[in-house]
Amino acid sequence: MNIPNYGEAKSRDKRDYKRVDFIFDKKIKDKYKNKKFFLKTYGCQMNEHDSENIEALLCSLGFSKVSDYNDADVIILNTCSIRENAHNKAFGMLGRIKHLKSIKKDLIVGICGCMAQEESVVEEIVNKYKFVNFVVGTHNLYQLPNILDKAILEERQQIEVFSREKDLVEGMPVVRSNSYKAYVNIIYGCDKFCTYCIVPYTRGKERSRLKEDILKEIDGLIKDGYKEVTLLGQNVNAYGKDLYEDYTLANLLEDIAKKDIPRIRFMTSHPWDFTDKMIEVIGKYKNIMPSVHLPVQSGSDRILKLMGRRYTRGEYLELFNKIKKAKPNMAISTDIIVGFPGEEEEDFKDTLDLVKECKYDNAFTFIFSKREGTPACKLKDNTSLEEKEERLQRLNNVVNKYFLENNKKLVGKEVLVLTEGISEKKNMYFGYSEENKLVNFSSLKDIEVGSIVKVEITSAKTWSLDGKEVE
Ligand code: 5AD
Ligand code: SF4
Repeated sequence: MNIPNYGEAKSRDKRDYKRVDFIFDKKIKDKYKNKKFFLKTYGCQMNEHDSENIEALLCSLGFSKVSDYNDADVIILNTCSIRENAHNKAFGMLGRIKHLKSIKKDLIVGICGCMAQEESVVEEIVNKYKFVNFVVGTHNLYQLPNILDKAILEERQQIEVFSREKDLVEGMPVVRSNSYKAYVNIIYGCDKFCTYCIVPYTRGKERSRLKEDILKEIDGLIKDGYKEVTLLGQNVNAYGKDLYEDYTLANLLEDIAKKDIPRIRFMTSHPWDFTDKMIEVIGKYKNIMPSVHLPVQSGSDRILKLMGRRYTRGEYLELFNKIKKAKPNMAISTDIIVGFPGEEEEDFKDTLDLVKECKYDNAFTFIFSKREGTPACKLKDNTSLEEKEERLQRLNNVVNKYFLENNKKLVGKEVLVLTEGISEKKNMYFGYSEENKLVNFSSLKDIEVGSIVKVEITSAKTWSLDGKEVE
């Protein structure tokens, strides 16, 4: 049994991990043919991509996937810790599974993802959720096949979580959920330690993949006909710092942009690490999409400082404006937290003002959620939840207004859309524009999923655009 420890998770030192190749234990290959698994994913793109690895690992064991958990022999929850409500959702699901397990005694239940890295969660699972058969952490996901095998063979609960990152494992199998858009991890972990955020504890320190490994993966995707890659990391802009003297995200993006891939995206970018060279490269290459996610979190200098964000409102705005100018159709999205401990009406108004200045194309807005073990958890908080909810509502009204305003500017213009399918509700094709806007469109001909088509925008809504395909 290996239980997570936050003290250790927090520690950072020089590079002490190895790059190793994934090896599948041949003894358990196809051992569970005819057995079925159900996998539920919570949270961010990183988790979605991890689930693509989990699916492949289970398929190597012989399992096949089912979409109803009642039909499964193994249920795995790939969890998220970022806010309390993600937590509650996973525990709610565990409640339903407990009921199922009382009728289906052989059912195997496993937890992985960020919640598996949390001290208090694992303690609760050991003490109160004894029906959970195994817990595997984010740092040792590659061990899942053997841990699951052991959980099936042995009665006792298997808790295998490393508090700290060990090896950087390359070559894990993957079953991609999409045949034209792919996620590619470039860096794991985060060293920023924003005071509200649990990620540096659950995902460990910043570890970049070797550029050769990334470029090889992208070559493979191009060969398989992929049209879009999204480079993933908690903070992609820190790419390379732990590995190279002078090879950064700007260099990596440029190397990828020179390849024959129509669309390149990357996320998430911390404003602190966003260099002029990056902006230059984004501006230079057509296949780097005009869409940047640049979380601001707050528009108040006082709150930004309490959040440990390392930039002022003024510095953020300067960067924002530089990025905006990199391409004519640049769309910038953001994340904003309201109700951070100590946030006064004045601070909140600063956030509203900043939003009015930036006129974001998209924004993800959240009420601050206390995460155990983070510094902000201990800060005094006098604002009631009601007041925070009211602030969130006011903020959403403003951000929504700009989404619509920006979308309206596209009416009458032509955009390029990567077709994803036919939306059942509207009986129209749908896909995403280069600016990452959802576009529903009609066409007189049959459009293949995965193809990039020109669409004239005919009307705009807050969260989507309507249009028609043009030759
Ligand atoms: N409470 C609310 N929102 C949070 N985020 C991260 N931690 C918290 C928290 N404790 C938000 C930030 C981040 C996004 C992924 O989630 O806005 O950018
Ligand atoms: Fe969390 Fe800040 Fe790291 Fe983003 S940059 S993952 S908000 S600590």
